[in-house]
Amino acid sequence: MAKSKKSWEERLSGEPDPLMVDFVESLSIDKRLYKYDIVGSIAHAQMLAEQKLITKDEFKAIRNGLLEISERIAEGKFKFDKTYEDIHMAIEAALVARIGEAGKKLHTGRSRNDQVTTDIRLWMRDEIEILQTKIGGLQKAFVKLAGKYAEDVMPGYTHLQRAQPIAIASYLLSFVEQFERDLIRLKNCRELVNVSPLGSGAVAGLTLPIDRKSTAKQLGFSDISYNSVDAVGDRDFCAEFIFDCALIATHLSRLAEDWIIYSSSEFGFVRIDDSFCTSSSMMPQKRNPDVLELIRGKAAGVYGSLMAMLTILKAQPSGYNRDLQEDKVHIFSASDTVSASLDMAKAIVSHTKFNTKKISAGLEDGFLDATALAEYLAKKGVAFREAHGIVGSLVVCCEGQNKKLAELGLDEFKRYWPAIEKDVYQFLGAANAANKYVTEGAAGPKQAKKQIAYWEKQLAQR
Ligand code: ARG
Repeated sequence: MAKSKKSWEERLSGEPDPLMVDFVESLSIDKRLYKYDIVGSIAHAQMLAEQKLITKDEFKAIRNGLLEISERIAEGKFKFDKTYEDIHMAIEAALVARIGEAGKKLHTGRSRNDQVTTDIRLWMRDEIEILQTKIGGLQKAFVKLAGKYAEDVMPGYTHLQRAQPIAIASYLLSFVEQFERDLIRLKNCRELVNVSPLGSGAVAGLTLPIDRKSTAKQLGFSDISYNSVDAVGDRDFCAEFIFDCALIATHLSRLAEDWIIYSSSEFGFVRIDDSFCTSSSMMPQKRNPDVLELIRGKAAGVYGSLMAMLTILKAQPSGYNRDLQEDKVHIFSASDTVSASLDMAKAIVSHTKFNTKKISAGLEDGFLDATALAEYLAKKGVAFREAHGIVGSLVVCCEGQNKKLAELGLDEFKRYWPAIEKDVYQFLGAANAANKYVTEGAAGPKQAKKQIAYWEKQLAQR
């Protein structure tokens, strides 16, 4: 392909400095937008034909040329030349080389400033859908695992100290809730993404009678932007998208942190399947949760991207500035990282087993039923502050005798509070306490079963 001159080379004298060529190019990163660039260009060209700014034949030549280029890129046969700076220029140059004069008309009524943000929005729309599907898959894996442990109880923690008994299923469903919020956030983000900036030109719109609604409709945008100055410089949706990714990464990282702890010998609550463990090059006995550690570690990179994106925006003078080119590396990286971590998390969740024997063997340590006992007293009319104090003293008494609360005799209870009756034992012991929860959304087996049914239905409908 004979190398075509860039039109602005008429304006500038001499050859571009090779150092500068390397520095300004974004082709190595934005070439992954090629499909969106081509789809956007075909819509733009069709609109130009509708508006009689190009002929029907010119449109056909442009469309066919672009489709051929798309195929060549997909087949890996396209030669990317970074002197064309970015994917937009590379494709346009290839089009001109292929179809000649008609190709030079493609950029009528368009700037790379509105073109690039259109491409990103089209890419992001698809990417959001992919992430949503992956989140849904992970949620399903959690619900399935929860279904296996609907009756089993484990310690619930606050401050990583034993607090109150919870159903294992409720613990697992807590992640389904977190990822559900991530889904909603992405859905909301999509609304802001799905707006067409195409036709905003470089910064001021156009003197040519282009039809912005036509391109918006062809590309499936739900509306057009209404201020060209804002439209070319707006990357708020990029920051928002990365934030959504960062929060997904946070939720994945919290899961990873839990299971790194829970899979340790000290806890022994979960067994991560061998296929997701690594060993040590030196210590032959090791089964390490490296995958979970990497999920936790990779969240850091996503936060970095968010910080970078916000920082790119904070000192932008109005309109387009080349700083914005740096957006892509961060949206791609955040999305790729989260996408891979979601896949890994789903695989791990699908293969993890809870060691219910080990969990129940230690379930009566740590007075998980103490709060239930205080609430029992409150129901008997004891002021909660007083009940709290009584149970505190009972715990100290038990510790002295190396006993559990359930092992105290009724006479001992009565010494602390005469109104305590035999029915107190229904609240004692971790499993009993968990089965006594009555509030909506509580973490008992009763509520967990209801929630499993709810989520199974919800997720099946998607
Ligand atoms: N590669 C550029 C970007 O990603 C495209 C827009 C360039 N516009 C310009 N006026 N130099 O933002």
